[in-house]
This record gives sequence, structure tokens and C-alpha cells, in this order.
Amino acid sequence: MQIPVKRWYEAAEKRYSRKKYQKKEISKFTLRSYEKFLEELNQIFPEVRIELFKEDISKLLPALEGKYGSITGAPYFIAIIVEKEGDYCWEKAGYAGEAALLEATDLGLATCWTAGRYKEEKSKVDLELEPDERLAAVSPLGFSSENYLFSQNFISKLFPRHDRKSLDDLCEGGFDSDWPGWMKNALKIARIAPSRLNRQPWRFKVESDRIIVECKGTPTAYRRLECGIALLHLEIGAKDGGVNGKVEFGGEGIGSFKKEH
Ligand SMILES: Cc1cc2nc3c(=O)[nH]c(=O)nc-3n(C[C@H](O)[C@H](O)[C@H](O)COP(=O)(O)O)c2cc1C
Repeated sequence: MQIPVKRWYEAAEKRYSRKKYQKKEISKFTLRSYEKFLEELNQIFPEVRIELFKEDISKLLPALEGKYGSITGAPYFIAIIVEKEGDYCWEKAGYAGEAALLEATDLGLATCWTAGRYKEEKSKVDLELEPDERLAAVSPLGFSSENYLFSQNFISKLFPRHDRKSLDDLCEGGFDSDWPGWMKNALKIARIAPSRLNRQPWRFKVESDRIIVECKGTPTAYRRLECGIALLHLEIGAKDGGVNGKVEFGGEGIGSFKKEH
């Protein structure tokens, strides 16, 4: 799948987690366009599928043990589903899931990564999981009803991403302003990736033609997923910075973006 670099770069910059939703329906045109996109996205990794449900997310949320905060009102949601034993399935869930959230953001829809241990018996929506599948995360989809003026988003606009660690702290050996422009652009956008409780488990190791994502702490399933999100952001930023290349999962660290010569 060809990444729409400019659109997703802008989406990554403007995306914030939204928890309160209006009952408003998404237009048929937008839904069709999004469903078509998901069909394409679902081709990239056999280990991950992302499904759109035209159901109120509140029917599913009680089944997510360990989720936090309250998400209300969203009339649609997406489910990010992994093959439990699939290669790098959690990293790929993060990468593909974030692609789905950025595309939604670009279509003017609000989102919020939401994850917890799924207890099927407590859900009022049948996700039709196969025995070898597990629900990795969901996101509501719709129109935010949060009061813009008083919301965190307004503050975040005044103080862009004050809530993230500095690149000096995230890069091994500190940030070097002499790194090539594409690297600095990649790191800038990877830094603002979303993570559970905003814990930002990714650490970046910069080499001459690649950036490696390492995991701080035990690489649990969710930390690996979050590093997968950061890997997509790295790729978007690197390509926006003018280089070609691709993400590789595994190897040193959780994965890396490597520039092609
Ligand atoms: C894997 C994952 C799980 C998350 N789970 C929840 C959750 O259960 N409840 C919630 O309100 N937000 C959840 N979030 C959203 C984070 O709290 C949010 O991304 C982070 O605080 C950064 O804020 P931002 O998304 O507005 O940039 C989750 C994010 C990720 C990536």
C-alpha cells in the first residue's frame, strides 16, 4: 500500500484522542470511502484485520478490562484484530491501526485508541473472532462533542505537544541537530505518536541510514503495539522529509525504518 504521506503527516500532527462523541451519523460517502480504504489496508498484513462496526461503542466497552477513562456516544467503532500467533502481530497491529486512525482523522473523524483485555461474554457486539484471533484494540469513530475552548485540545494548540518527552530524552545519546533533515522530520513526528497512558515506550537509535525503535521496559504486547505506531510515524516523517525506504519489523529492537539508496 502506498502511504499518502502529506495527508497522514498532517493528520498525525492534528490527531488528538477524543472521548466524547455526538450521536451524529457519518455520511454514506465518507463511510464508503473509509470501508474501501480498510479493504486495502487489510491486504498489507495477513496477521491483522481492521473491521468497522456500525454499532454504538458503549455496547462493547464493558468487555474491555483495564481500559481507562470514559468514552461516550460514538455511533461507530473500529476493531483491530490480530492473529494470536502471527509474526510481529502486535507491532503490525500498531502500524496498521494507526494508519486506520490517521485516515479517519484526514476524513474529519475523531478517534481514540482504546485497549484492554477483551472478555467476549461481557460484550453486546459479536466481533466474530476466529479461535486463533484476539481483539488488540478498538477506536470510536465519529464527531467529537468536546468543548473546544475548554478542552485539552485547545491547550495543546497553544503549547504543541507539551505532553511528550523531548527528543533529547528519546534518542540514544541525545538529539543531534546535525542529523539529516529526513531523520529529524521522522523523529519529530514519531515523538507525537499516541500510547496507552501516554507512557511513550519507544526509544530511537539513529544510524547512518536507519532509525531503530527500541522498547523501554519489558516489551509487552501493548508496548510492542505502541512501538508499531511509532514505526508508522517514523516512515511518514522520513518520506515527508524526501527519502524512500521501508519499515522492517524485528532485527535489532522492535523494528526500524531503513532508507533506500
Ligand atoms: C494502545 C493504546 C491504548 C489506549 N487505551 C486507552 C484507554 O483505555 N482509554 C483512553 O481514554 N485512552 C486510551 N489511549 C489513548 C491515550 O491515553 C492517548 O493516546 C495518550 O494519552 C496521548 O494523547 P493523544 O492521543 O491525545 O495524543 C490508548 C492509546 C493507545 C495507543
